Parts: sequence; structure tokens; C-alpha cells
Amino acid sequence: MRFKFTLLLALILSVLLTDCSSTISDKLGYNIHKKAVSSMGMVVSAHPLASEVGTNILKQGGNAIDAAIAVQLALAVVYPAAGNIGGGGFMVFTDQKGQTVTLDFREKAPSAANRDLYLDSKGDVIEGLSTSSHLAVGVPGTVDGIFTIFEKYSKLKNFDLLIKPAIELAANGYKITAEEANDLNYSESEFKRLNKYAIPFVRSTAWKQGDVLKQTDLAETLQRIMNNGRSEFYEGKTAEMLVKCISENKGIITLDDLKKYKSVWRKPIAGHYRGYTILSMAPPSSGGVLLLQMLKMLEPYDLKTMGFQSKQYIHLLTEVQRRSYADRSVYLGDPAFVKIPVHQLLDSMYLLSRMRNFNPLRAIPSKLISAGTMPLPHESEETTHISIIDKDGNAVSITTTLNSSYGSNIVVNGAGFILNNEMDDFSIKPGNLNQYGLIGAEANAIQPGKRMLSSMTPTVVMKDGKIFAVVGSPGGSTIITTVLQVLVNLIDHKMDPYDAVQAGRFHSQWLPDKIYVENGLWSKQLTRQLEEMGHAIESRTDIGRVEAIVRNMDGTYIGIADKRGDDDVEVVK
Ligand code: DON
Repeated sequence: MRFKFTLLLALILSVLLTDCSSTISDKLGYNIHKKAVSSMGMVVSAHPLASEVGTNILKQGGNAIDAAIAVQLALAVVYPAAGNIGGGGFMVFTDQKGQTVTLDFREKAPSAANRDLYLDSKGDVIEGLSTSSHLAVGVPGTVDGIFTIFEKYSKLKNFDLLIKPAIELAANGYKITAEEANDLNYSESEFKRLNKYAIPFVRSTAWKQGDVLKQTDLAETLQRIMNNGRSEFYEGKTAEMLVKCISENKGIITLDDLKKYKSVWRKPIAGHYRGYTILSMAPPSSGGVLLLQMLKMLEPYDLKTMGFQSKQYIHLLTEVQRRSYADRSVYLGDPAFVKIPVHQLLDSMYLLSRMRNFNPLRAIPSKLISAGTMPLPHESEETTHISIIDKDGNAVSITTTLNSSYGSNIVVNGAGFILNNEMDDFSIKPGNLNQYGLIGAEANAIQPGKRMLSSMTPTVVMKDGKIFAVVGSPGGSTIITTVLQVLVNLIDHKMDPYDAVQAGRFHSQWLPDKIYVENGLWSKQLTRQLEEMGHAIESRTDIGRVEAIVRNMDGTYIGIADKRGDDDVEVVK
């Protein structure tokens, strides 16, 4: 009786909460839901059309993996700034039994790459070569990633069904949002400089909200992938088009590089924080290691009592971030090339020792903090996030990227897809800063076939054997501190899940030695107090764009799409 009553209450609550979800009906007729509740499955992504494609797959009996494939492909069409088939990413997948696997489909350096690829004869960095040229492109991993998870986990076992929505969106076109119009207009000159042929992203007049973007070449490429499978992208006509486009413009990706590309299954980085189990991405992403390092350094402190955005709280998080990002710069890279002391980096004693010189009253200048020392193991090293849960409780957390907005801005001639500029995530010269201001060293130096270090942090959090949260974000180096703050908001500050995502954020990363804060988050008084403690503060626009799913007390799930973009939750009812 009691059980039935609870079930009824849960049902009523879920209907009520779904109905009072915050919905923005924009001028294009897109219903953008910023939050919605369901126990039947949901998709949170950067675009309402992609979220809709995903929930349609769930409604047809697909599992979270099927939906993720369809969403990733749809985003490659409707969110060209970051959605992609010409980039790469990482997936954390927790199945309904609580088993977690992760897939690394990160791009790789071409075999002809070398550590001095972006340096002139004097050893100086050639401006823009690692970000805006055909040499900036890493060997893409997304299509291999898609087929790898399809073969292992698809429930529908029908690839055509998963790719067809993307083909239709590309062939028929879709109405672009105001944000997309702005982004396309902003990138016009780079698109023109790098593509000496007609591309769908450039036209004679400026883009505006509601204009229809059709991508005929991309539709044909997706159709060929549907017909011929993985090998179309890595060995077929599409591969030939990609290599032709690259090699005609002094790039170095070869057919052999494409043919050899393989995603890698990796053990998740797993650890505990205040009774929650955190499952995140292992190297070559720095996300999981840094997230757990920071949580572990925070665990001895009572953050709730300090208070959200209090001076003590901001100071503590900044000091923790400083120490972790210092370790990142020295120790992390592609585990196939460098020995990464993951175990030592996450060791409780080591992390306690890192905080030994923490002064609760004073910032410690970053120049006085270096990476920790530890014995190395003996011989033997514009992004977008998708969060999905299906009705059976399988959860997918995927972060995928072209790196910059529209990647390299290079569209493969005749094939219609945009290529990444992921090579800039390598340390292109010791001590040189990449576009996110990250500094790198030997562990992340360029080597043929090596994966560049990432900050992407797709994460699943479990509590009492059940999924508690599925979360991730874009934002370059700010991804890790964004995910950290969402988790701390939920776990320590006990915030409502919607507020936990939408709350203001700040970020620091050891170097540059400053705290970046979202415009208007801190009062003048708070800023002054932090400066008096020795912190340099710089205001900036949005930090991260989180897609999150969080379990409610009644066992239903709430999806939250970041208000910082066109991001949208769609649920199965
Ligand atoms: O893998 C990385 O860490 C970067 N390439 C991610 C880039 C990114 O998040 C850009 N989005 N704002």
C-alpha cells in the first residue's frame, strides 16, 4: 500500500515537474527546455533538434548508446561549431548494472608529425600554424568511436535508423539560432581564408536567426557512411577527399594515418568523494585525474559551512586548482607514450602533502608552486557535451570536440564536414601557452601517432549503487573546474540540481596566476577582499556549458541544460 502510494506520488510529482519545466519558445519554434523530469529516459545536448533526435531513438526502443550515436551525428549537422565527425572525444558509459567503461576516440598526431612542427628555423612558434592551418588537424576519431560503441552496445542494431535523422537535417536544412548566426558571421573571414571553394557556412549576406542552413555535401558524406560503414571515413571516398584537401594545402595527414586510427577502451578514473563514486575519463584526458585530485584535496574541509561563493570558499578552491593544474602541466599526456603516475597523483597522502603549505588567509603565488614530486613507475604514458539516460538506467556521458569553435575552420572540399584543430592541445614548444593559456612540457610534446592531452571531463557519479549524476561541459581548460563546481554545488552545498548548473562559476589554472570569474558574480567588496588575500581577479564571459542529469529523491531524473547556450533537455514521457 505504502509502496503504491509512493509510486503514485512519484508519478504525480514527475508530471508536475515536467509541466513546470522552464521552457523557452524561441522565435524559430524550437521549444528549448532548460529542465525537465522523467523516469523514462532523457537527452541533454547543446541543440534542441539534436536532443529531439535522441529522445525519438529512445522512444523507438533504443538504449542510451543508440541515442548517443544519433545525437552525436545530429550535432555534427545542427551544431557545426563543435558537433562533429571531423573531431574526437571521450565517452563514459555506465550500464544499468552499474558497470562503467570509457572510450577514448581522441584525435592523434599524424605519423609525419614531429615536436618542432610549429616552429620556425630559429625555434620560434609560427603564429596560427597549430590552430588555423591544414597542419593543425589531428587524425579524427569520432566516426571510429561511433562504430565502436554501436558494435558493442547498440540495442537497436540498426545503424541506418541512427544516422538518417542527421542525413535529413543536412539535406533539408534547419533554421539557425541567433547564437549560430553570430558565430557564423564572426568566423566568416577565417572560413574564406581557409576554404577557396564554396562552403555552406559562407554566403553573400550576413546570417541571421531563422535562416536555413543546408549542407548537401555533408548529407552525401553521411549517406556514404550509412552505406559503407566505418571504412568509408577511414579508407573510402571520404578518406580520399580528406587527404586530398589536407595534402593540397601543406598538411600531413595520409591515408595510412586514417586507416590506422583506432579508438581505445580505457579503465575509468574512479574514486570516492563524501560517499559518492566519481567515474571519469583517464589520460589522455586530464579531466578525471584533476577532478578527483581536486575533490580529494577539498574533502577535509567543510565547504557547506564556508558558504557558496564566500571568500574562504573561493580561496580554497583556487588553491586546490593551482596545485592540480601544476601537476597537469608536467605529468599528463598520452599513456601510450609517457609513463603517467596516475596512482601516485591520486594518492591521499600525496594530496594531503600538496595542501601542507595551504594558507587559509593568503594566496600562494603560482611561481612558488610547482608540480609535486613523486617516483615515476618503474620501466615497463568548441567542444560539446551530451548526457543521456534511458529507461533502464544506462547512462552515457560524452564530451566531443573540434577544439576551437568550428575547429580549424577547414571544410573538407566536397565532403562538407569541418576538421578539428586539435594539434594545438599538444605542448607545441616547452613553456609555450596554448589557446587556453595552458602550459605544457615533455609529457605532452608532439610525437607521431600520439594523442594530445585533453581537459574533457565526461563524468558519471554513483550513490548507493545507483546513478546520481551524468555531467560534462565544453570550455577548454575550464571544463574540469566547471564539472568540479557542479559536483560541489550538488554534494556540498546541497543545491537544487537546476541551480547547481546555472550558478555562477569561476576558474583558475595555476598559470596564468589569476582567478577568472563570470561577469557580475562577485561584488566589488568580495573582489577587493580576495585581492587583499593576494589573488588577481579577471572578469570574463560564460565559463562552461553544462549538460547534466541528476537523480531526484523520488527516483526520477531531472535533466538540466545550461542557460549559457541554446542547450536543451528532451524527455521521454
Ligand atoms: O580537449 C580539450 O581539452 C580541448 N580541445 C577542448 C576544447 C573546448 O572545450 C572548446 N570549447 N569551448
